[in-house]
Amino acid sequence: TAKSPTAMRRLLSADMVERGGCPFDPPPGLRQRRGQGPVQPLKLLNGASGWLVTGLDETRAVLSDLRFSSDRVRHPDATQPHQGGQTAVAAQAVESRTDGMFVFMDPPEHTRLRRLLTGQFTVRRMRALESRIREIAVEHIAAMQAAGTEADLVPAYALPIPSLVICEMLGVDYADRAEFQERTAVALNANAGDQERAHAGLELYAFIQELVAAKRAKPADDMLSGLVHDADPPLTDAQLTDMALVLLGAGHETTANMLGLGTFALLEHPDQLAALRADPALMDTAVEELLRYLSIIQMGVSRVATEDVTLADVKIEAGSTVIIATPEANRDPRHWSEPDRLDVHRPRSPHLAFGHGIHQCLGQQLARAEMKVGLSELLTRLPKLRLAVPADQVPLRNEMLIFGVHSLPVTWA
Ligand code: HEM
Repeated sequence: TAKSPTAMRRLLSADMVERGGCPFDPPPGLRQRRGQGPVQPLKLLNGASGWLVTGLDETRAVLSDLRFSSDRVRHPDATQPHQGGQTAVAAQAVESRTDGMFVFMDPPEHTRLRRLLTGQFTVRRMRALESRIREIAVEHIAAMQAAGTEADLVPAYALPIPSLVICEMLGVDYADRAEFQERTAVALNANAGDQERAHAGLELYAFIQELVAAKRAKPADDMLSGLVHDADPPLTDAQLTDMALVLLGAGHETTANMLGLGTFALLEHPDQLAALRADPALMDTAVEELLRYLSIIQMGVSRVATEDVTLADVKIEAGSTVIIATPEANRDPRHWSEPDRLDVHRPRSPHLAFGHGIHQCLGQQLARAEMKVGLSELLTRLPKLRLAVPADQVPLRNEMLIFGVHSLPVTWA
């Protein structure tokens, strides 16, 4: 079956999307455009005119200004934000996939749905999830060791951790987890054909619908049950299914790529890796630095101006798409010294890897916990971890909204 270009590739030229010599640096076309100013006109490949924002302050200004809309129903031409997975999962399935896709909504609808979910991210649940993350990480390292001295870290470690964490969050039964993981993997797999992905997406949609019905009949102590039973007025099944899919799409591919690409980056920066191994207390700042330095959500955050807005002395006309170049905004030389250097000692400073404003990542604490635990267990349990192939043979996810590696062959012998 034929693969079609991703939404991003239909709108942006290759040099703005594909990373060049160093897989960790922003695509060369972005770097070159940054030189032309923090906000600049951008011709999209579909003929529309848009704007590219490469500065940190200008990005904050856009993302905190409600005149810039996230509504993909009213503005279908905008690029899809990073929840590309969930869009692929659901898009083909149902006529209108908008019931609970709050990431594509503006206030007041967005506010209501997001608040319901925030109410389910309780401290107690987050603690329980954190201890499960460690168990999952340890189990998967043990399985890798039991199978030999080499593995592809993506399917063996980076993908299963966020996938199983989402199972915990949604309260998927143990018996159903393999099926859930398998379908998610196909639905999110860039190398699968369109039809295969669409089919897996439909199956996943049906799976989540059944899960919602099960939680309605018999609530348990999980987030989905909380959403089903605590919302007043109650959410519809379509809304609940969408909201579960948002969590799945937003929390799976992102964290998986941070684990895969983050490990790759550390292995390619031996001095930084050594510093981190020598002082595990650096892990918190290292995770923030990796988020900033890698900025995996390449061009996925975008908005549409609902009225004329002046930004950095530039007039953005109503109806234009504004694309945030997160990899550049997170290396804004006005904010960081030597922004192109990975430095695990760098003092923590606010980056935009989780976005900003009302849509700022809802799962960021969880994502941080997954990265901290995932990386530290890997580094301590496999002290000789290294690449099993030359670095230039690691396949990069250049074509995807979420950058990362397709696979990461490693050895620990
Ligand atoms: C939104 C990044 C992990 C749930 C966002 C946004 C970014 C982002 C940039 C804002 C999108 C926009 O403004 O259009 C990331 C990164 C992650 C990560 C880099 C991993 C390293 C997670 C996890 C979850 C999650 C683990 C939950 C399980 C969400 C949700 C939204 C969101 C629900 C939508 C919030 C809203 O629209 O109000 N994320 N995310 N994310 N993220 Fe994450």
